[in-house]
Amino acid sequence: MEKIVSLCKRRGFIFQSSEIYGGLNGLWDYGPLGVELKRNLKNYWWRVMVHERDDVVGMDGSILMNRAVWKASGHEETFSDPMVDCRSCKARLRADQVIDKKGVRQCPNCGGKDLTEPRAFNLMFKTYVGATEDESSMTYLRPETAQAIFVQFKTVLEVSRKKLPFGIAQVGKAFRNEINPRNFTFRSREFEQMELEYFCRAEEGMRLLDYWLKERLKFYERIGISRGKLHVREVPEEERAFYSKANYDIEYDFPFGLQELEGVAYRTDYDLSQHQKASGKSLEYFDEETKQKFIPHVVEPSAGVDRTVLALICEAYAEDQAPDEKGKMETRVVLRFHPRMAPIKCGIFPLLKNNAQLVEKAKEIVDLLRPHMYVFYDESGAIGRRYRRQDEIGTPFGVTVDFETLGEKDATLRNTVTLRDRDSMKQRRVAIGELAGTLLADIT
Ligand code: GAP
Repeated sequence: MEKIVSLCKRRGFIFQSSEIYGGLNGLWDYGPLGVELKRNLKNYWWRVMVHERDDVVGMDGSILMNRAVWKASGHEETFSDPMVDCRSCKARLRADQVIDKKGVRQCPNCGGKDLTEPRAFNLMFKTYVGATEDESSMTYLRPETAQAIFVQFKTVLEVSRKKLPFGIAQVGKAFRNEINPRNFTFRSREFEQMELEYFCRAEEGMRLLDYWLKERLKFYERIGISRGKLHVREVPEEERAFYSKANYDIEYDFPFGLQELEGVAYRTDYDLSQHQKASGKSLEYFDEETKQKFIPHVVEPSAGVDRTVLALICEAYAEDQAPDEKGKMETRVVLRFHPRMAPIKCGIFPLLKNNAQLVEKAKEIVDLLRPHMYVFYDESGAIGRRYRRQDEIGTPFGVTVDFETLGEKDATLRNTVTLRDRDSMKQRRVAIGELAGTLLADIT
């Protein structure tokens, strides 16, 4: 993890938030490469979950909502972790982190035995809307995106004219005042979720839960996370919310252990029923064939953007051996991102920066590829060093404009370039006119 965290900072993937002021625990900023990786992931999720399907539409709800939403959903009452304070070192600990030595509770920080009884600590961030700061103007930053979908269920149903089963997808920020943010971005206080609420008839719930589990596992493979590193955990009844009929966690084998990436949960009709009861507005579905009215059930695949980005980086990180300028083998750090996810798709290099023709041709290629993908032009340093810099940030392809491109050595090679593959380091010649098509076949 240390190597990964340091690479993320050095090459502009992820930085500590407010770093020049000493940071703020559990909050992170994504730099120029991190933001590309994150966007590639969110866009691909949207493509697979919304655009490639007839039965899902999207929405983008507000982060602040009427406090009544959080009362009805149960978050105000129960979205809390039991906490214990250590009176010796003043640490606030999650109750499940307290050490139990033969029935004696001990602080994992200082070993102290003077601990308070567990107390509920709500994880939602409070805020005030408008000029007055009192109970009547209070609400919370949303701790999940899902509730916006439930409260807009009827409106989206009407405007989209969908029939059951159908889903509403959303990607957006969520906030939780986690007691112990840790493992880099894994447990943060501000993060993004990619959630689908898939509404169905009660009798279809269990089948659709398994269907979505399979779909989501396929998704991870399609972004380059190997199946062998994923683990499906069936959440036992005692860990599930009382309304949940079944729940899978998709876990990833992080360097710090097997940890949850996504939950695929069968939430029954709990959320819609709660909001119907609390708001007094009907959230029922009318089945035109059977003329029945009922509250649909829901299956929810809910994934974390930041956790998946972290998994992508962990999965991609590799060290291997590659020859340096003089042919001597050296250790190469390489991020083997799937080309779909890679922040930069192609590096473009004139062999020599002081040759006007090579530079001009390379810039023509930049203009040719730019409408299709994010590319990076680099003319500084030896070509081997330029390749290494791109390997380290996971750029899957490198294009070098050399004297063959100008047709100086062999007229048949005019307007061809060297195309280098990041992982195999193999090079082949490709006609400039075929470059965009060749690269697009791998990155889309
Ligand atoms: N709507 C359901 C829901 O929010 P959850 O299991 O609490 O379920 C879903 O969260 C996903 O959101 C998790 O699987 C994880 O990927 C992500 N997530 C939750 N808390 C997080 C945190 N503190 N930091 C980063 N990601 C988090």
